[in-house]
Amino acid sequence: MKLLVLGGSSEAGLLARALSARDDLAAILSLAGRTANPAVSPLPTRIGGFGGVQGLIDFLQAERIDALIDATHPFAARMKRHAAAACAATKTPLCAFSRAPWIAKEGDRWTEVEDAAAAVRALDDEPRRVFLAIGRQQAGAFAGPSPHHFILRAIDAPSPESLPASLDLVLARGPFAIEDEIALMREKRIDIVVSKNAGGEATRAKIDAARALRLPVVMIRRPPAPERPVFETLEGVLGWIEAHRPAP
Ligand SMILES: NC(=O)c1ccc[n+]([C@@H]2O[C@H](COP(=O)([O-])OP(=O)(O)OC[C@H]3O[C@@H](n4cnc5c(N)ncnc54)[C@H](OP(=O)(O)O)[C@@H]3O)[C@@H](O)[C@H]2O)c1
Repeated sequence: MKLLVLGGSSEAGLLARALSARDDLAAILSLAGRTANPAVSPLPTRIGGFGGVQGLIDFLQAERIDALIDATHPFAARMKRHAAAACAATKTPLCAFSRAPWIAKEGDRWTEVEDAAAAVRALDDEPRRVFLAIGRQQAGAFAGPSPHHFILRAIDAPSPESLPASLDLVLARGPFAIEDEIALMREKRIDIVVSKNAGGEATRAKIDAARALRLPVVMIRRPPAPERPVFETLEGVLGWIEAHRPAP
């Protein structure tokens, strides 16, 4: 059985490690190539876009893929749509491996918004120090004229023309500990946090830190995803793979 795993998330890393230990399965991990130094993969890995839905259809057919596991990040909406369309066209079984979104707890001061543009609008006109904990790809939405000072955390440095004018850049890769998030928010005198509702443990500490410091959070909701089975556990995905093993 030959699998294609769409990666770029901690779930994809977990699945890749589990699949690499199996000699009854072959699997290819696919990465978009956004980060300069991706985590080392235990599976054969291809890097870069497929060239849209048709490119992915061609890849599935050329590599004789039996099933596709979409383990992209919850905010990788286009890749999810392309995977669903290409699997429908080729009748390739598809499931997703993803984490549940975070849910506000007592003490959280969230304003939930639909997307990055709505997050920009949710920051009012009073000048504030804003922790942009959303990665560099969506930071461009905040690049227009603004009364605010931004502290952007990203894995790689973004191109300066796509950034807010008043900015501190913090280069770091998660997971982050709550003590470190509290220290960073204090040191940078953060007034408000902007976050995507990524879910999972690796980047959750900023939400816990904001609650501990009673800071408001503008929380960007997840984009819609296509209909397909979604598993939140490795066991669930491995069971689905077994159920879709082609007849010998
Ligand atoms: N968006 C986030 O917040 C976020 C956060 C952490 C990690 N990531 C990871 O970073 C990658 C890019 O995210 P994005 O939001 O830019 O995705 P996206 O907007 O959904 O995808 C844009 C294009 O990038 C290519 N692509 C995306 N994921 C790919 C993969 N795993 N393998 C091969 N090509 C891929 C595809 O190009 P073609 O159309 O040419 O095939 C896709 O159409 C994803 O793999 C995602 O898991 C994203």
